[in-house]
Amino acid sequence: MPEVQGAATSGTGRAEPPQVAAIVLAAGKSTRMKSKTPKALHPVCGRPLLIHILRALESAGVTRRVVIVGHQADAVRAALDAHFGEGVIEYAVQAEQKGTGHAAQMAEPLLGEHAGPCVIVPGDTPLLTADVLSSLLAAHAEKRAGATLLTAVLPDAAAYGRVLRSAGDGSVLGIVEARDATAEQRAVREINTSVYAFDTPGLFRALRDLRPDNAQGELYLTDAVRLLREAGSRVEAVVSPDPDVVLGVNTRVELAEVGEIMRRRILRDLMLSGVSVEDPATTFVEAGVRIGQDTVLLPFTRLTGDTVVGEDCVIGPQANVSDSSLGDRVVARACFADRSTVGDDCRVGPFAHLRPGTNLKSGVRIGNFVETKNATLHENVSAGHLTYLGDAEVGADTNIGAGTITCNYDGYKKHRTAIGANAFVGSHSTLVAPVTIEDGAITAAGSVITQTVPRDSLAIARERQTNKEGWAAERRRSREEASGL
Ligand code: UD1
Ligand code: CA
Repeated sequence: MPEVQGAATSGTGRAEPPQVAAIVLAAGKSTRMKSKTPKALHPVCGRPLLIHILRALESAGVTRRVVIVGHQADAVRAALDAHFGEGVIEYAVQAEQKGTGHAAQMAEPLLGEHAGPCVIVPGDTPLLTADVLSSLLAAHAEKRAGATLLTAVLPDAAAYGRVLRSAGDGSVLGIVEARDATAEQRAVREINTSVYAFDTPGLFRALRDLRPDNAQGELYLTDAVRLLREAGSRVEAVVSPDPDVVLGVNTRVELAEVGEIMRRRILRDLMLSGVSVEDPATTFVEAGVRIGQDTVLLPFTRLTGDTVVGEDCVIGPQANVSDSSLGDRVVARACFADRSTVGDDCRVGPFAHLRPGTNLKSGVRIGNFVETKNATLHENVSAGHLTYLGDAEVGADTNIGAGTITCNYDGYKKHRTAIGANAFVGSHSTLVAPVTIEDGAITAAGSVITQTVPRDSLAIARERQTNKEGWAAERRRSREEASGL
């Protein structure tokens, strides 16, 4: 084993830390998920399991990530390439699943020449954090170990592999799988998390010596640890401070359990960064959502996807925001917003629906039962009640009266409605697109607007009212006569 693994020397003469590679084991079948979707792609807090792990690796400074694919390999590759971009993640195919050691062997053509250390992680433990990975790598480098295991101490070690230590100095001897263990070994509470750091050349040498001499007839990655130790390598272990990091997902029950832990983690991080969460039990924020200081999240609120919320906002109760960007001081109550942009100081809801392509500039007011789609509303527009604005542009300071409808669809095509600034659209106006209402214009309540309303003019497009004097009284009288009263 080289003294300093893969250390390069920079122009300044100082040794740079060696590049770290990673092997992610994700070829296994996931029968117990009972799903058409591969396990690795089931989402937890908005992201596929595998993406959480790959991002944690990236945050821990890993520069090459090799995913071992097998079962539904094409779907896994397509999803990862779509997320990270093509060529970012490397793949090795394990056509037949002959064990974790066999899976790791598949990475040799890609990483056989890699000089720095190599991390191995399972593909189904999304709670693994960059911090835990970094401390594993730091311990591995510091001790100049051939292998460093991440272990955890569990009250019930169940089916996990047990870590065997020397009775004398407590050093790690190896790992025994639960089903291959003696009763005495099964009593051990320190388990193998399946997260390791290895000296890469040593790893591949040990993998070549694996034999399937175990209860499952598989090539066990865990045996590589014992082989390294026997060959005189240093084997170290880091006990994870948080046993949750080992929780794997095998069923949808575990998927929900892991999701709950991650959801709480996300909320905790937000609260510690200055966001108030009134009721964490009913608040759902997906991984990657960003929220500014002093924003308050009220109960039954769900923020998902690529969503950004500014500072000093009040979001909820019952706000559902996906893939949207909200400015500062926004109040968003009981609403759905999807792929929309909401400027500073806007007030949305309750019972509002912002559909894709909604763009609200600052100070816009969207009230009860208002739906917008592919619509730009400039500064301080107010649409307070019962309105549909689709394929529309509304100029600054315009008021949209209750019950205004843009008739954007003729059964074949969508058409645009353009409304200028400082206009006043009377209640229950029906705007038959394509149509334009120019700056400063007014439409009379109940109008059906089919033609351009010129600047600063009033459009009345409705039947003129006729009053028939005495008609109602006469009708009452004749009814009373007919019924003999
Ligand atoms: C493994 C460890 C065990 C550890 C446990 C932690 C071995 C032999 N045992 O057991 O010590 O306590 O993880 O969760 O390593 N995989 C492949 N190809 C295969 C087999 C598995 O890619 O041929 C992948 C799986 O998709 C999975 C990971 O490797 O992501 C772990 O495999 P799994 O079968 O779950 O291992 P365990 O029996 O849980
Ligand atoms: Ca497992």
